[in-house]
Amino acid sequence: MLDRLLLSKPLIGIQIPIIEQQNSLLKLAEAAGERNLPLWVWSALSTGFHGLTDAPQWDSTIDLGHEILTVLQSQSLRENGVYVYVDLFTAIVALPPPQQVQAELSITALFFTLRQSPDTRVVFLETGEIPHKFIQLIHNYNFPLPTAIEIGEMLTSYQLPPDGKFLNTLSGLTLEEIRMALKQVSPGADLDTAAEQLLNYKYALFATYGLEFIGDTTTKDIGGLDIIKQSLTFVQKSFSPQARAYNIPLPKGWLIVGVPGTGKTYFAKICSQKLGFPLVNIGIDVVKSGGVTKFKQLLARIDACEPCIPYFDEFDKFFIGEKSGEFLGVILTWLNEKTSKTFVIATLNRLENLPPELTRAGRFDKVFYVDFPTAAERKEILQLHCARFDDRYKTGNGALTPQEWTVILERTEKCTGAELAQIAIEAATALFYEIEDGGQISIDLPDLLAARKCVHTLFSRNPEGVMAIENRAKNFTQPSSSNQPHPFDLPKQDLYSRNTN
Ligand SMILES: Nc1ncnc2c1ncn2[C@@H]1O[C@H](COP(=O)(O)OP(=O)(O)O)[C@@H](O)[C@H]1O
Ligand SMILES: [Mg+2]
Repeated sequence: MLDRLLLSKPLIGIQIPIIEQQNSLLKLAEAAGERNLPLWVWSALSTGFHGLTDAPQWDSTIDLGHEILTVLQSQSLRENGVYVYVDLFTAIVALPPPQQVQAELSITALFFTLRQSPDTRVVFLETGEIPHKFIQLIHNYNFPLPTAIEIGEMLTSYQLPPDGKFLNTLSGLTLEEIRMALKQVSPGADLDTAAEQLLNYKYALFATYGLEFIGDTTTKDIGGLDIIKQSLTFVQKSFSPQARAYNIPLPKGWLIVGVPGTGKTYFAKICSQKLGFPLVNIGIDVVKSGGVTKFKQLLARIDACEPCIPYFDEFDKFFIGEKSGEFLGVILTWLNEKTSKTFVIATLNRLENLPPELTRAGRFDKVFYVDFPTAAERKEILQLHCARFDDRYKTGNGALTPQEWTVILERTEKCTGAELAQIAIEAATALFYEIEDGGQISIDLPDLLAARKCVHTLFSRNPEGVMAIENRAKNFTQPSSSNQPHPFDLPKQDLYSRNTN
């Protein structure tokens, strides 16, 4: 792979995690060797190029700006060979602006000189970012993650079985990261313990990159949202082996829009449970601060962790501010070309900040809008949350008569799921303060009505804002629940306060 790459382009950028630097140099030397070319390495540690095996001597007198300009215009670049600059761009950023400009111009000149010399190649091995403006000059190459065979060999050398379970545990890590993970397994640990330690190591490491694995196993139930729940069963079916046999494409993912508190995050967790895939929460702030190339690497890591649900909360944050166009490009390509068993869920409150490309057909399989729950849905949600404290709510109509339900449902119009949960919690907590030790919490209508008064809803605070979100979103999305009439629905009234159903 690398040797073919060396054949085709004069300037090559390879971005790697810092710990992979030595491995990458070795692989480059191997690839250069296959083409009978010597390999020369430069780093800011010393002056000029040196061979891979002669370690550079630390030189305290280096004038970095002078050194970089010299080495970029070096006469030796006229001779055949592979010239590797280690973290050159990281060093350039540290120079005063005039020298930065000169260094960048030298790189451009290098491109035009080397275009005619197929046996001289320049590789920029970077742990940071290669500036976007060089995109046309420097061929960017993402160092691939190790294959299953490579991971297997590593496991075997640490006396662990290269079976599916262990391969899965270590997937998404680079070879050096795998080595570090294996090193910290307790000596003499049984296989289960070893697997657990490896997984914990991976999760802790991924957290530092902004990827948080959420393995939520407690069964929860979500009230209402029948359409989206139904669609989820189809997604489940599309991931089955039968679907592959019928050539049904792998699902890509969903975009879910709705005002805060309508249960979007909660639903993502339910998806994780129903599909049996772990949820990988992608911390957009951390990821954005790492830059576009790191983000590409992270996506490759996520793909390697299949099956999983990559989850982007507040997805619109990606597309605000600096470099948003570049991030958009990466995400669009990824969604288009993704062949891994991953189901992307992206949630957001308002569609305004989202580039229209993302809602076009072929990106996400579906774009849902989660509305305020209908009366029937409010009953389901209230009942679910009351049942956490009062067993009577676990069956039938719970502790309320149909007439009582009508009263509380009327008082909770335009409440979100989160606010309904809050009402149940407020009611239960107030009762808890009153009961004797060993007593039961019994939530009745007056308790719910009193709790309702304590919860200040988003809608009452900002009705115009909420309506604006709704109106805009509904043009692009499909509803996540069918508004079927239900005995608990309130009468719909026309302009003259006449009931219409
Ligand atoms: N449809 C629902 N059914 C049950 N609980 C819900 C529902 N919607 C919201 N909730 C409750 O509200 C809480 C907050 O919802 P969340 O998913 O964080 O909202 P969002 O992500 O849309 O802002 C959830 O943890 C859950 O307890
Ligand atoms: Mg949320």
